[in-house]
Amino acid sequence: MSINYSEKIPNNVNLANDRALQRALEHWQPHFLDWWREMGPHHFAQADVYLRTAVGVDAQGWASYGAVKMPDYRWGIFLADPVAGRTIGFGDHAGQPVWQQVPGEFRSQFRRLIVTQGDTEPASVEQQHLLGHTCPSLYDLRNLFQVNVEEGRHLWAMVYLLHAYFGRDGREEAEELLARHSGDTDKPRILGTFNEPISDWLSFFMFTYFTDRDGKFQLKSLAESAFDPLARTCRFMLTEEAHHMFVGETGVGRVVKRTLEVMKELGSDDPAAIRAAGAIDLPTIQRYLNFWFTSSLDLFGSEVSSNAASSFANGIKGRPDESQYEDHDCRTASFSLDTPQGREDVPLRNAMNQVMRESYIKDCEIGIKRWNLAIQRAGHEALRLTLPSPRFHRSIGVWAGLSVDPSGNAMEPAEHARSLPRWLPSEADRAFVHSLMRRVTEPGKMAAWIAPPDRGINNLPVEYEYVRLQ
Ligand SMILES: [Fe+2]
Ligand SMILES: [Fe+2]
Repeated sequence: MSINYSEKIPNNVNLANDRALQRALEHWQPHFLDWWREMGPHHFAQADVYLRTAVGVDAQGWASYGAVKMPDYRWGIFLADPVAGRTIGFGDHAGQPVWQQVPGEFRSQFRRLIVTQGDTEPASVEQQHLLGHTCPSLYDLRNLFQVNVEEGRHLWAMVYLLHAYFGRDGREEAEELLARHSGDTDKPRILGTFNEPISDWLSFFMFTYFTDRDGKFQLKSLAESAFDPLARTCRFMLTEEAHHMFVGETGVGRVVKRTLEVMKELGSDDPAAIRAAGAIDLPTIQRYLNFWFTSSLDLFGSEVSSNAASSFANGIKGRPDESQYEDHDCRTASFSLDTPQGREDVPLRNAMNQVMRESYIKDCEIGIKRWNLAIQRAGHEALRLTLPSPRFHRSIGVWAGLSVDPSGNAMEPAEHARSLPRWLPSEADRAFVHSLMRRVTEPGKMAAWIAPPDRGINNLPVEYEYVRLQ
């Protein structure tokens, strides 16, 4: 199905055939644009940015690249092609045909899930509102803006579902998605991590590595949904999401690479010396990693959850890569859970959040291995970046608020509190990282704390002028 760009709202859902829906979305569109102007990238509305825009939903050649002013980006509604004869893959309705409408009895559950997913998309744009001012290169600035416009499109993806399938409630929710704001005291975003400020680029790279990856897993589980329009929307969003995690993985990798170069020049791994040379020492990188990883772990919810059980039972939300499991019913199976009281067997359906969290953690390991390979190759056998224990620094679930160290061992609360600055970014760490954040906008040039990327975007050289500032 090709995308129709001649309409006000680009789409591949035949919007022109449903006048009422089209009108409702065209009414929401200027509200979205007002939000973008106010909360999107600050002061870059006139810049020409080398962006990709979706032009199809095929695996091959789905995007076209070119210079765009961000407010003119063609945000639209794109669903992956339907799978003929698709049946429900899990839960109580497994084997039945998928749904093209939301069954009345599951309406509020679906709505809550779509709103929660939708809320994260504009939230991240708001969190990154000011980052452009301190870009380490034009290449990075472009990647930030690419991520931002695509998060904006993901909001469109969820708003389309709300408008098309949830009537008046859905339209009200769509307005609310623009009324809540990241970090707002009165009307914050729904999930904790999405209210954390992202005011430096190390945080941005950690966020795109760890928090966008949570997004990937949420989308993968919703791509399994019995509600087919939701599944198809999420399948296409995953195509875009891959780039966001690429930005995170290569971003952290380039920071590590630069640190290793400075360590070699200095012949030392002394953090103070590395900082004095203008790079970020590995222990600081580890603390940022600890913060964003553990904060993202909370996004999966409580280990034991009756909500998760009913989402699975009702076909609302499956496991990421559901087809790889043998048992798609899970009614009688149990799950061995790590709790502060020891191992506990719980019904598998109730442990679905934890099942997801564990596959997420495995996926997080991949980048850590790559970064460590670079550290090892630079000759530092004893130095490693590691994922902290999922028991550490948790705010949600059975480990919430406990005094546990990054290795997962319980300790005295007072000593734990004293040790926190060694494990999480301290005020001094943040001040130091902020002090490095100076804007570099000469094509091909990089800030001193980050190595250049291996290659440019879409086969262009790294020196290409990815953003033309006005
Ligand atoms: Fe997204
Ligand atoms: Fe993303």
